[in-house]
Amino acid sequence: MSNEIKSTITYLKKKIKTTPEYALILGSGLGNLSKIADIEIEIPYNEIPDFPQSTVAGHKGKLLCGTLYGKTVIIFQGRFHYYEGYSMNEVAIPVRVAKQLGADKLIVTNAAGGVNPGFEVGDLMLITDHINQMGDNPLIGPNRDEEGPRFPDFSNVYSEEMNRRFMEIANAEFVPLKTGVYVSVTGPTFETPAEYKYLRVIGGDAVGMSTVPEVITAIHNGMQVMGISVITDMGVGEIIQPITHEEVQQIANKSGELLAGLLAKWFKSLN
Ligand code: HPA
Repeated sequence: MSNEIKSTITYLKKKIKTTPEYALILGSGLGNLSKIADIEIEIPYNEIPDFPQSTVAGHKGKLLCGTLYGKTVIIFQGRFHYYEGYSMNEVAIPVRVAKQLGADKLIVTNAAGGVNPGFEVGDLMLITDHINQMGDNPLIGPNRDEEGPRFPDFSNVYSEEMNRRFMEIANAEFVPLKTGVYVSVTGPTFETPAEYKYLRVIGGDAVGMSTVPEVITAIHNGMQVMGISVITDMGVGEIIQPITHEEVQQIANKSGELLAGLLAKWFKSLN
């Protein structure tokens, strides 16, 4: 294990007695997803040695451990964004910490803008692939050989098995689930109409300011990954409306409940 997370792991291993199987990283306004779990341990990020601190309103910043239908989970309520000034490396720390604690599966959620004209505000989109438009990558720098190879294969990032299960659950619950490609950008500016159009042209269905750095790190570490976006606003032609962070959070909160329900059923179906 690299030195940067050693003190974090030593501290957390003392606190957390169980081995988490699943790591969940919850995005903007989606923190209440943690309500679906039986939480045994709750640690504010600011008590964790050498752990970054969340700076955005609505990102609560705590680590939760517990179980979800018998599966052990570690939940990061509040993530770190590149636009906050963190390095890609820092953004990815929760994933590396989760992996060191034993988690080999990652579930990420985020709020995103829709660029697929077939989408509507409030939709859930299961991520099937991504495009990294951040101009940076958490794996730049000396390779951590103990985590994964220098040039990891990325031809199959989002777990087909986890995704299939999620689609089946959504189907059974009559939730009209969208699927698509998530494009990550740095933010913090939302897109101009020309940028939204560009993101559609290059193959995107949704755009957001997170997730991809964590997913890259998870894949490098050999983890299985599933990601779900809540579409909080639309970046399509005439229907582009001015948006604020507060509106994004409001929609995320609302659809977050729907997402929490599906995820709970997803975990239940593992039994
Ligand atoms: N663009 C980028 N990030 C976002 C958006 C958006 O429209 N909505 C929520 N996060």
